[in-house]
Amino acid sequence: MNNRPVGIFDSGVGGLTVLSEIEKILPYEDIVYFGDTARVPYGNKSESTIIKFSVENIIFLLDKKVKAVIVACNTASALALEYLRKIFNVPVTGVIESGASKALAVSKTANIGIIGTRSTVGSRSYEREILKRNADAKVIAKSCPLFVPLVEEGLLRGKIAQEIIDMYLAEFKRKKVDTLILGCTHYPLLKEEICRYLSNVVIVDSAKEVALHTKTLLGENNFLNDSKEKGKQYFHVTDEPNQFIKLAKLFLKRDIRGVEVVNV
Ligand code: DGL
Repeated sequence: MNNRPVGIFDSGVGGLTVLSEIEKILPYEDIVYFGDTARVPYGNKSESTIIKFSVENIIFLLDKKVKAVIVACNTASALALEYLRKIFNVPVTGVIESGASKALAVSKTANIGIIGTRSTVGSRSYEREILKRNADAKVIAKSCPLFVPLVEEGLLRGKIAQEIIDMYLAEFKRKKVDTLILGCTHYPLLKEEICRYLSNVVIVDSAKEVALHTKTLLGENNFLNDSKEKGKQYFHVTDEPNQFIKLAKLFLKRDIRGVEVVNV
């Protein structure tokens, strides 16, 4: 098991924020990344559709002999994780639990904001995980549908980004949250502007938290790779790969090679 790769799936390119944290925290792990670029976005789709896509994505990853699966997509984590854990034998982890635990650990007032896609916010999954751990917490959640296209257009800072941030996040300022969860794969790329706008708020990056959690999970299962060689990475997408390769550079700040187009 130890030498098998870790599988990561996302609706598209956004999960590279998780891959980037995994490379830092688990540098010796091989990774099979699957981006469902033909069916992206997931963020406005229904629960049954997200579950169906997620099951197919994991079946693909299992065929690549992964030892564990990370659901990098917040929307899929919010809507499908419980079901995926029931039907698959490998450890499957998502971003919601680790993001929620971290937010409670750093918040002094338990007044927590959450931002994500429409489907993630509509599922109330983050809220549930927070309230399960602290029934007195106050949670405000808001979907920010323009953030994904903003990031994919490379508008990570400047006037347009600032105006959209103000439009979505003014409420969190008014309601004095002391912690904000970035509940979408793309949002870590807007972290700099969001931090500037909400200067006294602790920002929780769910991509980083799931990478830390994955290390614990692999350790608990005795699945950590004992090799001391830098892990290899394999990329698979469901649509032609040019846009994925272009955006990957924005997310990873380097070029990626050998992206394979597959059907699920
Ligand atoms: N990966 C999605 C998420 O984290 C964002 C993009 C999409 O809507 O598919 O929720």
